[in-house]
Amino acid sequence: MTNRTLYIVVCGAPLASRTADGVKAARANGWDPYVIPTDAALPWLADQDLGDAPVITGNRTPEQPKRIPPADAVAVVPMTFNTLNAWANGNANTYPLTTLCAALGARTRTVAVPFAKHDLAGHPAWFASLAVLRYAGTTIVNPHDGSTSSLEPLNSGTGIDVAGAFHWSWVMQQIEDSAT
Ligand SMILES: Cc1cc2nc3c(=O)[nH]c(=O)nc-3n(C[C@H](O)[C@H](O)[C@H](O)COP(=O)(O)O)c2cc1C
Repeated sequence: MTNRTLYIVVCGAPLASRTADGVKAARANGWDPYVIPTDAALPWLADQDLGDAPVITGNRTPEQPKRIPPADAVAVVPMTFNTLNAWANGNANTYPLTTLCAALGARTRTVAVPFAKHDLAGHPAWFASLAVLRYAGTTIVNPHDGSTSSLEPLNSGTGIDVAGAFHWSWVMQQIEDSAT
């Protein structure tokens, strides 16, 4: 059987340090992962062994053919405050955002793990953007415990600890559940 295609969009927050674990979890569950980092995520990827997972950065040139197959599912891990709001507002001015906007528009399965401290999450755009994504069918996963019914912003200074305790199986489970 052919593996399914999973885009892993990675934003610039400490949970990006667990992308290699996401690649392994995807492969173990029968997915071919393609890593699509934002520019801000790149420093977190520098020291990680992503195996043979393609890392797609920047836009292709008009002459280049499409670089990756269409996605069967998209995971956004972590999703920063910035990307959350840009995605929900239909801002498509980078490759990761264009990918996310197209996935939402096509109603491709999307699972996102918002990762932002209380100060950012206190901005009214946080709730508005989450509501837009949920309305469009995105599953929102709490980075603290994998819950999809509650979402806790981070206490300042806890990003590395929360990233360390995160389980990629929470995301894979939601991707499989939303497939049924
Ligand atoms: C060390 C560090 C930690 C950061 N942690 C977070 C975070 O947890 N959540 C968040 O929304 N932004 C965080 N940021 C800020 C984002 O990286 C910044 O808003 C960036 O523009 C996000 O771009 P992106 O959404 O394209 O990845 C952090 C930045 C740095 C340098």
